[in-house]
Amino acid sequence: MKDGVYMIPAVHWERRLFDSLIPLPDGTSYNAYLVEGSEKTALIDTVDPMKAEFLMEQLKDVKRLDYIVANHAEQDHSGCISLVLEKYPEAKVFATPKAKPMLMDLLLIPEDKIITVEDGETLSLGDKTLRFIHAPWVHWPETMFTYLEEDKILFTCDFLGSHLATSEMYATDECRVYEAAKRYYSEIMMPFRTSIQKNLDKLKDLTIDIIAPSHGPAYNKPEFIINAYHSWVFDEPGNIAVIPFVSMHGSVKKMVEHLEGALKERGVIVKPFDLTVTDLGQLAMALVDAATVVIGTPAVLAGAHPDAIYATYLANALRPKAKFISIIGSYSWGSKAIDQLSGLLANLKAEVIPPVFIKGFPKEADFKALENLAETIAQKHRENNLK
Ligand code: FEO
Repeated sequence: MKDGVYMIPAVHWERRLFDSLIPLPDGTSYNAYLVEGSEKTALIDTVDPMKAEFLMEQLKDVKRLDYIVANHAEQDHSGCISLVLEKYPEAKVFATPKAKPMLMDLLLIPEDKIITVEDGETLSLGDKTLRFIHAPWVHWPETMFTYLEEDKILFTCDFLGSHLATSEMYATDECRVYEAAKRYYSEIMMPFRTSIQKNLDKLKDLTIDIIAPSHGPAYNKPEFIINAYHSWVFDEPGNIAVIPFVSMHGSVKKMVEHLEGALKERGVIVKPFDLTVTDLGQLAMALVDAATVVIGTPAVLAGAHPDAIYATYLANALRPKAKFISIIGSYSWGSKAIDQLSGLLANLKAEVIPPVFIKGFPKEADFKALENLAETIAQKHRENNLK
């Protein structure tokens, strides 16, 4: 990347699921970085244990390693620390005070191997200096960034990264990287928006030539990803309604189609997601900008459909900036779906618009109720000047 600074990207082209939860349509990478100073050498983060062999092969000509920086304790970055320590028994691990017990618990790293660093503390490698910047809650409590002062490189680990397998060191195809980074933000970072705002503010005082995350390509035009994060984190939501729904016999589908048409007529952008075929990453990305979320469900076993429950739980956990929420659905003989779904939405600071929950296939009065719902949504978007 620069003299004495190397990216070690373990590209995982074929991985399709992360944390047994998150779809990876574009694969991912785990980037470690090697920084060689005139006196000391440091490895910044490691890689997922699934790529341990690759990492050790890359290190085979590195005779001496003095420091391992653990910006984050999650195993896709810290999981090879023990292996690296076996090869370099003299090396010490640098981490935040909160990361230390996590590294001991998760990876069984001996306590005396770990040195804790305070916010702003520096570590000299001779002609290169690492500065540690505490950045809690992106996306665990112990996270930090490492800033290489002389080369103006900021190593951010998960923050500003993307699940994108690529052989390019830098984000050259910005459209593709933007989509992958937004997907990553929506799935991993969005619940911690307030902390991200504070951590973005912390970067204002740094001169940054390169942002080097530990997933996806690095950024030699840092403003590209910083500006994208600013808009995702700080901007008002758009004039957009997201409708995650499930339909069993067509009634809810008909309701969604009618609501979709009524919203469009009123100038609202609509994004329906049939949950039986939805990539949850696409839904999460749509939630980044949506002002309104309307969940559609049929009644199953007197409650909501399990797919609708899952999507509602996820929307609540991701804490999007939606301002309005509602539920539509259909039942045959009875349902507690409204109570059930409402109870899952406690995290969303959204105004609840009265649901439209009907018996059987929608009829004239039901279509009218859906048009009224569309009108209420459009009016609230106008009142809030959402664009
Ligand atoms: Fe890429 Fe939080 O680990």
